[in-house]
Amino acid sequence: MQGNQQLNTVPEIKQKQVAVPEIISVTSGKGGVGKSSVSVNLAILMQQLRKKVLVLDADIHLGNVDLICGVRSRYTIADVVTKNIPLNEVIVKGPGGIDILPASSAVSELIEMEDVILRKLASAFAGLQRAYDTIIVDTGAGIASTVLSFVLGSDKVILLVTPDPASIADAYAVIKVIKHWRVALPVVMVPNRVKTEAEGESIYKKMNLMVQKFLSSFIDYGGSIVEDEHLSRSVKLQQPLVLGAPNAPVVRTLKLLNRKLMGIPINQEHAKSSFFDRFIANRRLNAEELV
Ligand SMILES: Nc1ncnc2c1ncn2[C@@H]1O[C@H](COP(=O)(O)OP(=O)(O)OP(=O)(O)O)[C@@H](O)[C@H]1O
Ligand SMILES: [Mg+2]
Repeated sequence: MQGNQQLNTVPEIKQKQVAVPEIISVTSGKGGVGKSSVSVNLAILMQQLRKKVLVLDADIHLGNVDLICGVRSRYTIADVVTKNIPLNEVIVKGPGGIDILPASSAVSELIEMEDVILRKLASAFAGLQRAYDTIIVDTGAGIASTVLSFVLGSDKVILLVTPDPASIADAYAVIKVIKHWRVALPVVMVPNRVKTEAEGESIYKKMNLMVQKFLSSFIDYGGSIVEDEHLSRSVKLQQPLVLGAPNAPVVRTLKLLNRKLMGIPINQEHAKSSFFDRFIANRRLNAEELV
């Protein structure tokens, strides 16, 4: 591991405490609210802090992390599942030293094979997961069972929301399901595309009040990302913002989010099992409840 090679005293302590990488999922109720942009930029910031980071594009059918990063991938998750291509041949080097596991784009043979996909990925990942300190899982939107499998299997969840009322209502639906299944799973809300930080903080505070009142729990605040044309331009240019405009206000917010995430402890019991095994376990959980 890159960080471990450089800090001689850290690896032993780290290996004892963390058997598997920390898994942070980035999710939302409504689509198109900035999940992939935040996943990639946050991953690069973590890598800059000498962590070894993999971005897993878990929007299995319509992923576009590779496009956002401007990398071309020969294979995708679909090839792991249908052709048994080893993961280390599928994972590509992304910008800023991160690794990317690309999703497929509308590959019809993967549809309705999600259990098989997760199982095959679990065995393909068995020897590889220790190569990473952190895996950022960029999920699809909403509360479909595959999305929930990834979210509920994480150590921490970043929940993106925009000021759009539909996005706020859908975000509450996501929190409700998470708190139903894993009340202790930390949910860090990040309002995006706000005019001011105060607007975003107000969205968070209202949501947290609802969560306290109706779900007897709470969510954390990860800071607010303002509407910034640098971000939309960086997506078009296929160059992540933290590399192209490192002084943009959005980058400052993401650095604070990263620090906030590092301060949230993870559930060590939960973290013991291998990470795709957790997703599969949660998939069974969802299926039983949601049918
Ligand atoms: N703070 C922002 N300021 C300006 N544009 C933004 C901001 N956040 C996101 N966008 C733009 O919104 C669009 C959608 O972003 P992104 O692809 O990251 O969302 P997503 O949640 O991953 O979408 P999907 O649900 O389709 O996967 C992109 O063009 C991105 O540039
Ligand atoms: Mg996306």
